[in-house]
Amino acid sequence: MKLLDGVPALLATMLVGACQAPVIQPHGTVNELMIGILEPGTNVVGNAAFQDPEAQPSLGNPYAGWPGVESAAVAMAESAGLLLIPGRACSNGQPAPVDQEDWIEWTADLRETGLASYEAARRKDQDALFDLSERLLATCTDCHVRYLDVDGEPGNRCMP
Ligand code: HEC
Repeated sequence: MKLLDGVPALLATMLVGACQAPVIQPHGTVNELMIGILEPGTNVVGNAAFQDPEAQPSLGNPYAGWPGVESAAVAMAESAGLLLIPGRACSNGQPAPVDQEDWIEWTADLRETGLASYEAARRKDQDALFDLSERLLATCTDCHVRYLDVDGEPGNRCMP
């Protein structure tokens, strides 16, 4: 620690802290990611399959239209990584089952379908988006049957 000789201890700690790698950590529950990213993203991507986004009212959103669909799709793909960060909890306090094989598989599906939807949105390919939306919804359902309210009981969420 030669460089820091003579620097007061607190300042030295701050300097060292500032050089550490950024921390990747969860901030919300799985439910919050679902409601914040996956639910709205699915709606944007799904709607684009049925109605040309350029023909829909923008409602003051400057990113409506195809760029909005591309971004929603890529956010779905990114959510896969967020759903795998260790230490995230579900809304019932149960840790998200990030090391379960089926959980990992379904998040991989989200990534692939999200990326394929991104490519389809770039091509403005509504037929492809229709097929991808179906695949996406199947992934949501598969994971929910296994991890969401098993036997209608919220306490059973996320049980490994
Ligand atoms: C890898 C598993 C998994 C996938 C894939 C998944 N979900 Fe979820 N989802 C969950 C779990 C687990 C919860 C409950 C989390 C909690 O309570 O914190 C949940 C909760 C939700 C909720 C809130 C339910 C409620 O009433 O509290 C919504 C909405 C939702 N998911 C939408 C989606 C959509 C849309 C997709 C597909 C694009 C999707 N989810 C894909 C696991 C998944």
